[in-house]
Amino acid sequence: MGLEGKRVLVTGAARRIGRALALAAARAGADIVLHYGTSQEEAEHTRSEIEMMGRRVQLLQADLADPQQAAGLVERAAEAGPLYALVNNAAIFEPLGWDQTTLEEWDRHLRVNLTAPFLLSQAFARSLGDGEHGRIVNLLDWRALRPGPDHLPYTISKAALAGLTRSLAAALAPRVTVNGLALGASLPPSSGSAPANLMDTIPAGRWADLEEVAQAMLFLLEGPDYITGEILHVDGGRHLV
Ligand SMILES: NC(=O)c1ccc[n+]([C@@H]2O[C@H](COP(=O)([O-])OP(=O)(O)OC[C@H]3O[C@@H](n4cnc5c(N)ncnc54)[C@H](OP(=O)(O)O)[C@@H]3O)[C@@H](O)[C@H]2O)c1
Repeated sequence: MGLEGKRVLVTGAARRIGRALALAAARAGADIVLHYGTSQEEAEHTRSEIEMMGRRVQLLQADLADPQQAAGLVERAAEAGPLYALVNNAAIFEPLGWDQTTLEEWDRHLRVNLTAPFLLSQAFARSLGDGEHGRIVNLLDWRALRPGPDHLPYTISKAALAGLTRSLAAALAPRVTVNGLALGASLPPSSGSAPANLMDTIPAGRWADLEEVAQAMLFLLEGPDYITGEILHVDGGRHLV
């Protein structure tokens, strides 16, 4: 078990994809720092599921739209022991086009989806002791490398996060690998519904299985540390069409 005894911080891990990633890391042997924003009940439930596997869980609440709380999260996590990995999963995804995007919405998307991962990565890299190595995985979207007009502030925040992934991979080598997982249709949005023709746009013709997403994350956490700055699409080929 490659993650045995290692501590992995997953943001937005109370529910949905973040929960699946936290459970997968725990199954691979990791102790989990489980961050949540507002979903306290779900976070406590996920904590119980992980503890039942015999792993330790540290539950931490923070509003990642607040840069001070984002910057302080790693320090709070590191008080309980050194971190091995950071998975930047928390995000907001609003169906806003260019004309509906207010300055407030633009700023909120960038704060949660870009500024928080940067501040967390910066604090994570600083938290590593001499000779310690670590891993960062950023949750991206197929849109990040093919920005179109839909979900505009979200798409631009993920495009910038893809850029940050490569930039930090170079900056933090060789101690920290920084990679991205560019997802496609993995779970319908929690509010609203997926477009009716969605399956026509996915060469694989189906939704992702969250186990597939989790396997890809585990590869980036446990696999060769010669892989850095890579953006791995787990999208059934959606970025190709
Ligand atoms: N769903 C998909 O099919 C899909 C497709 C492509 C990419 N992705 C990417 O994969 C990741 C997970 O997707 P998802 O659909 O599971 O995401 P989600 O449900 O939309 O959001 C994940 C979590 O982010 C947290 N969050 C949002 N704003 C926050 C804030 N201000 N402070 C703290 N936490 C905040 C929320 O935590 P609380 O609930 O605790 O508030 C939420 O549960 C995201 O990065 C997303 O962009 C997903």
